[in-house]
Amino acid sequence: RAAHPGIIDRYREWLPVEDGEHVASLGEGSTPLVPAPVLSKKLRGEVWIKVEGANPTGSFKDRGMTVAVTKAAAEGAEAVVCASTGNTSASAAAYAVRAGLKPIVLLPSGKIAKGKLAQAIVYGAQIVQVDGNFDQCLTVARKLAENYPVALVNSVNPHRLEGQKTAAFEIVDALGTAPDMHVMPIGNAGNMPAYWRGFCQYAEAGRTDRRPVMWAVQAEGAAPLVLGHPVLEPETIATAIRIGNPASADLAKQAREESGGRFLAVSDQQILEAQRFLASKEGVFVEPASASGVAALLAAAERGDVEPGQLITVTVTGNGLKDIDTALSGIETSPDVVTPEASAVASAIGLA
Ligand code: F0G
Repeated sequence: RAAHPGIIDRYREWLPVEDGEHVASLGEGSTPLVPAPVLSKKLRGEVWIKVEGANPTGSFKDRGMTVAVTKAAAEGAEAVVCASTGNTSASAAAYAVRAGLKPIVLLPSGKIAKGKLAQAIVYGAQIVQVDGNFDQCLTVARKLAENYPVALVNSVNPHRLEGQKTAAFEIVDALGTAPDMHVMPIGNAGNMPAYWRGFCQYAEAGRTDRRPVMWAVQAEGAAPLVLGHPVLEPETIATAIRIGNPASADLAKQAREESGGRFLAVSDQQILEAQRFLASKEGVFVEPASASGVAALLAAAERGDVEPGQLITVTVTGNGLKDIDTALSGIETSPDVVTPEASAVASAIGLA
């Protein structure tokens, strides 16, 4: 029977999962790496987009969750808990179901994109909305996991980063080398160090002769890594990265330093423009947070801040359908209604 192997089956030798351990998988990973001709021209280089919204629950979290939930089940957990701005909760719920565990998710009240909330509900998670932001939710989730028999599956769980590093493996496997530069959004700061680990491990194994410069991008209103201190009341339309006190800040700083990279911030306006650019010029529809890396690249191209001729990869982390309210904000969305005749349609679209 043909199966679509998930990241544990494909990269087991690089992951902390023993042979014979029951794997909770939905066929995650193997996401498209798409050439970006319009972005490439703007940057006078070669840009590729890693489309992580193509994962089973629509975000990169699935790579980490297959490992974290597989290990939680192997260690005898009966329930998993996470704090989330939405994607982690969707992924945790789906993978918990696969492993027969109970998913419990803590969400910052009113600050979750509707698509993500729908996922948690329909996968059957036990949802608690907390009157507080993500950072507060994570503090509560950690205490819950310390004091009750529930396994924490936020990215402070080391198995999450192990799974997420496989995106870097896939990039090198596809391009035959690591890029000169890798750009991605950053929020709670797990994913960026996970990529860095992936690139480094492949370099050590001789699968690439270079490691990329890492750019990690925040929203201006939620930019603790750029500012160098926590932000008490983070605010951005990119709710996925509305985070003021990233749990893995130290790992991210180390990755930035070792790679000679940067932390950058972009405005909500730049994020929305990048989202529309990606969809309307490259055909890739991503959620707002996911467009922040592209927003930073567009701004850098404008400033002439990227050397020409580079091989650049940019990760877009989540699917655009998760947050259609934000995507449609400020856009005229009621096309004309016409009679069912070609002539009426032709006249409506300016052909006649
Ligand atoms: N992009 C998206 C779409 C996300 O959902 C997140 C994080 C990030 C980027 C940032 O990744 O936290 O590893 O630096 N979302 C978490 C969540 C916080 O709860 O879904 P990070």
